[in-house]
Amino acid sequence: MKRDLLTILDLSSAEIHSLLARAHELKALHRQGSHHTPLTGKTLVLIFDKPSTRTRVSFEAAMRQLGGGTIFLPRDQTQMGRNEPLADTARVLSRYVDGVVIRTFAQDTVAELAHHAAIPIINGLTDTHHPCQVLSDLLTVSERFGGLQGLKVAWVGDGNNMANSWITAALRLDFELYLACPPGYEPDSGLLHLAREKNRPVHLGPDPRWAVAGAQVVNTDVWASMGQEDEAQARRLAFQTYQVNPELLKLAAPQAIVLHCLPAHREEEITSEVLEGPQSAVWDQAENRLHFQKALLEWLLG
Ligand code: CP
Ligand code: NVA
Repeated sequence: MKRDLLTILDLSSAEIHSLLARAHELKALHRQGSHHTPLTGKTLVLIFDKPSTRTRVSFEAAMRQLGGGTIFLPRDQTQMGRNEPLADTARVLSRYVDGVVIRTFAQDTVAELAHHAAIPIINGLTDTHHPCQVLSDLLTVSERFGGLQGLKVAWVGDGNNMANSWITAALRLDFELYLACPPGYEPDSGLLHLAREKNRPVHLGPDPRWAVAGAQVVNTDVWASMGQEDEAQARRLAFQTYQVNPELLKLAAPQAIVLHCLPAHREEEITSEVLEGPQSAVWDQAENRLHFQKALLEWLLG
C-alpha cells in the first residue's frame, strides 16, 4: 500500500526514528562522495502554489542524487490553474510518475490529492503543516545532542505551520515542547487538544522567557508567513516582544542551539547577531533538508 506524508502524524515513532537513522547514514555516504542510486528511473513531480528555495532545491537535488528525476510544476502553469479537478490530476499523474511533493495553502488540498492518487504524496508546506522541515530539524537536533529524549525545545513567535508541526513531532517523540505565542496567534487548537488528551509534554504560554529558560533548542520563524503579507504590519506590532535576541538566548541552556527554517527577517523575529552567532545551527539545519528527504524518498518511492 502506498504511504503519504501529509503531517508528521502519518508516521509512527518507530518510523521517524528509522528515517532519522537512515538520513544520518545517507549524510555520511554523501560526505564520502559515494553514489547510491536506488531511485534510478523514478520521477518526482513538485506542484508549487507558493515560492520556495530550500524545499524545491533540496527535493530536486535529493531525487537526482538518488538516481531519479523531477518535474517542477507551478500550479498556475498547469490545467489545474484553469480549474481541472485535483482528482483528475491525481489519477493522471499516478499513471506517469512515482510521487508528488505539493506546496499549497489549504491542508485539505493535499489530503484530496492523496486521496485520489495511487502514488505517495508529500506535503512540502501548507498553511497548517511543514512536516519535512520539522522532521529534518529533528535530525539537526539529534546530531547535536545525540538524541531527542528529555530535551527542552522552545518555540518563540507565531503559532504557524512550523509550530503545528513541532506539536505533531512532540506527539510522537519524547521531548518537552514549550511554545510562547502572543494571544490570538496560538497554534492549531485541535492539535493542542490532542496533545492534552494524549498527555504529551506540550506547553503553551505567552511569555518567551518562560519558554526559553533552560531550553536546549530555541526555534523561531517569520511573523508573517507566505499568504499573510497583508497582515504584516499588525503582526509586527503583536510580535514585538517575541524576538530571539542575545538577551533572550542568555536564558537558554549554555549549549543551546538556535533554529530557524529560513527565510529569516533579520531584526524582526531574530537578530543578525543570533542568526550569525555561534549558537546558530541554521546552515546545518538547511543542509539537513537534503539528507532527511533522501531517506524519505528512498522509503516512500524505493
Ligand atoms: N524552509 C523552507 O521551507 O524554505 P523554502 O520556502 O525556501 O522552501
Ligand atoms: N512559516 C513560513 C515558513 C516558510 C518556510 C511560511 O509558511 O511562510
